[in-house]
Amino acid sequence: MLDENRERAQLAEMIWITGRAAHSGYDGEMNFDVESFSGLPVIGGGDVCGPDGCGPAEGAGTAGSTGTAESTGDADFAHPAIELSDGTSIPQLGFGTWRLTERDDDALAAALETGYRHIDTATVYKNEEMVGRVLGSSGLDGVYITTKIHPTDEREPAEVMAASLEALQVERVNMWLLHNTSDRNVDIWRAMIEEQEKGHTASIGVSNLSIAEIDELIDATGVAPVMNQFRLGLSLHDPEFVAALRERGIAPEGYSPLRATNLDDPHIIDVAQNLDVDPADVVIAWHMAKGYIVIPKSATASRIRSNAYASRLTLSEQHIAQLDRMERTA
Ligand SMILES: NC(=O)c1ccc[n+]([C@@H]2O[C@H](COP(=O)([O-])OP(=O)(O)OC[C@H]3O[C@@H](n4cnc5c(N)ncnc54)[C@H](OP(=O)(O)O)[C@@H]3O)[C@@H](O)[C@H]2O)c1
Repeated sequence: MLDENRERAQLAEMIWITGRAAHSGYDGEMNFDVESFSGLPVIGGGDVCGPDGCGPAEGAGTAGSTGTAESTGDADFAHPAIELSDGTSIPQLGFGTWRLTERDDDALAAALETGYRHIDTATVYKNEEMVGRVLGSSGLDGVYITTKIHPTDEREPAEVMAASLEALQVERVNMWLLHNTSDRNVDIWRAMIEEQEKGHTASIGVSNLSIAEIDELIDATGVAPVMNQFRLGLSLHDPEFVAALRERGIAPEGYSPLRATNLDDPHIIDVAQNLDVDPADVVIAWHMAKGYIVIPKSATASRIRSNAYASRLTLSEQHIAQLDRMERTA
């Protein structure tokens, strides 16, 4: 497993470096052919995952087939993707942008260059214009955008959506989340459904809502969120909560994966040393192994890259069991 993970990290790094060459099946000076790279299970490049596991996406490549024709040619972390209950899919790895400011163009540009194809923003992050500007100048099509409406926003939801679309320079976003709970949940949810019907967002979901609060939305409107974004560190893991979401067709998305986890925990350190990777890599790989959408944020180019490559690490069942023990003891 150690060797496989080293090889996988090298593979990801090579794909990143070789860019378009790798995309076109480069087998030149490095004598490197992604598809025949021996022994590695394919987890990048082509999987679509649902609650019952992963399988190849229609028309998708294999690990290392680095993305769409529109991509810059760098490694493409659009895959694996999670199938949502409304028929759309979301790249399992996303790039968090909380605390990136309107001046942090470089961080987002580095993320896109690395191959992130899913960006998580929100009106309250006050960086949607930066996201729109950097995406606009990237020349990339089809980057998955999540933004959020906060219940403390005094504007009408339709106005909030219009402002987000304008700032992001798009006609519609992929996912619009109710950012937090309040006594206005049902009213805002109804307005969000209307915005979806108008085509301003492909999907709608929630963040930080309990199962009871989600059920209230479903009972009132008949429409279930397709995703719930909530704080998820390893010691916060609540399998029963996740099961209740999945029963309702709601995909779990973990935010603050690194900040909400003690990276010095001996369980994590042990797995990291065993795999010869950083503790943060283990945390991201754990989210991926569990089938959770994960959106690590970094403003540091080297971490932006390593966090992405970590999404392609394979944890053994033994490693996962070891990390799951941490959940119960925390
Ligand atoms: N819905 C909500 O209520 C909600 C709440 C919080 C967050 N979110 C979303 O979730 C995203 C992620 O959560 P988050 O930003 O709170 O926390 P996070 O991604 O868990 O952690 C970010 C912090 O970890 C550091 N970091 C990044 N990569 C690292 C690595 N490889 N090793 C060690 N440290 C590393 C970053 O520092 P540097 O930047 O200096 O590298 C930053 O300080 C947010 O950006 C936002 O999009 C949503």
